[in-house]
Amino acid sequence: MKNRMISRAFTFALALCAAGSVFALPAAAAASDGGAVKTPALKDVFAKDFLVGAALERSFYNGSNPARSALVISQFNAVTPEIAMMWQFIHPEANRYDFASADRCVEFAEKHGLALSGHMLVWHQLTPAWVFKNADGSPASRETLLARMREHIRTVVGRYKGRVKSWDVVNEALDDDGSLRDTPWRRIIGDDYIGQAFRFAHEADPDAELYYNDWGIENGKRLEGALALLRKLKAAGAPVSAIGMQEHVNLDYPSAKDVDKAIAEFGKIGLKVLITELDVDVLPRTPEMDEANVDITRVKKTRPEENPYAGAGGLPDEMQARLAGRYAELFEVYLKHRDVIGSVTFWGVTDRESWLNNWPVSGRVNYPLLFDREGKPKPAFWAMVETAGKRN
Ligand code: XIL
Repeated sequence: MKNRMISRAFTFALALCAAGSVFALPAAAAASDGGAVKTPALKDVFAKDFLVGAALERSFYNGSNPARSALVISQFNAVTPEIAMMWQFIHPEANRYDFASADRCVEFAEKHGLALSGHMLVWHQLTPAWVFKNADGSPASRETLLARMREHIRTVVGRYKGRVKSWDVVNEALDDDGSLRDTPWRRIIGDDYIGQAFRFAHEADPDAELYYNDWGIENGKRLEGALALLRKLKAAGAPVSAIGMQEHVNLDYPSAKDVDKAIAEFGKIGLKVLITELDVDVLPRTPEMDEANVDITRVKKTRPEENPYAGAGGLPDEMQARLAGRYAELFEVYLKHRDVIGSVTFWGVTDRESWLNNWPVSGRVNYPLLFDREGKPKPAFWAMVETAGKRN
């Protein structure tokens, strides 16, 4: 009910905006600064609650776009390199690491006092084929793959020891039925590959916070599977301290109630919860787009009807209001659980660079984040500020 009211309030605010009214923002949203609206910083707005982070595409930290870097520094107190630490990019060949981009990100974070979350050590996607093979092309043995995994983790985690606050150790190991996904890691090493990865990471940096990260774990079989996996890891003594809920959501799914219940369940097993990859997809999904889940890099080109807000008009006001209401209801839940939530990280900074412009189909114009393509705060941003103002 309350959420619906917030959503209605935003529709109203947007209607005022469209009518040319000066006041289009909720009263609590901004301080007046000589008549101009001063944008508050999310990191200050939620300072009492959790860190607020963003995944960074490289132009945000490599010096090529100072305005974009400034936006990050002014708004966030945590960052995640979006792709720079993925195996494919940081360790492309057996005897070759490429740390250039990851180093820049870590330096940027240190320079500006931003907590850095390392993403990620073990995944079945964006991992080069050589990892799972012998030189002659035959499948690697359990021993070989474990040794490779250990060497990779020791090298990457070791390099940034004490500089990276937390590591996403294993990413997306669950299948839709809640069982462990059939991946080369599991086929070759066995189910214990997950626990082993946590042990290797802990060995390399005993002070880093280590988490298991997955999507769609707010309800049903995937939630059951995640809870079972984490209970098992903890019972076996694996050094896992947090669950990363990715939170790639859309406007209606999953329900805020499910998100609320899932966070409570993870908290009950003594885990910290990190919201690691938040964005809200506003574009249509068709069942055939599900194929993109199988290989994240192989996406089809979009058809015009799948790209409804690509014109000059952008996202219609009514949709902006829905997006704002959605963010408000999610943050109400996150604030309720601020005792267990360590950070809330958006998967991107502005709509311009969001991966959702190119996934699950490529070449769309999506609007999933809080800052528009010019880096200006959207109604959803002000919804966050308003929601924080109403916390208990
Ligand atoms: C995505 C990146 O945003 C893209 O740039 C890349 O091409 C593919 O991966 N879950 C994850 C993230 O854990 O690593 C993914 O990031 C999004 C889904």
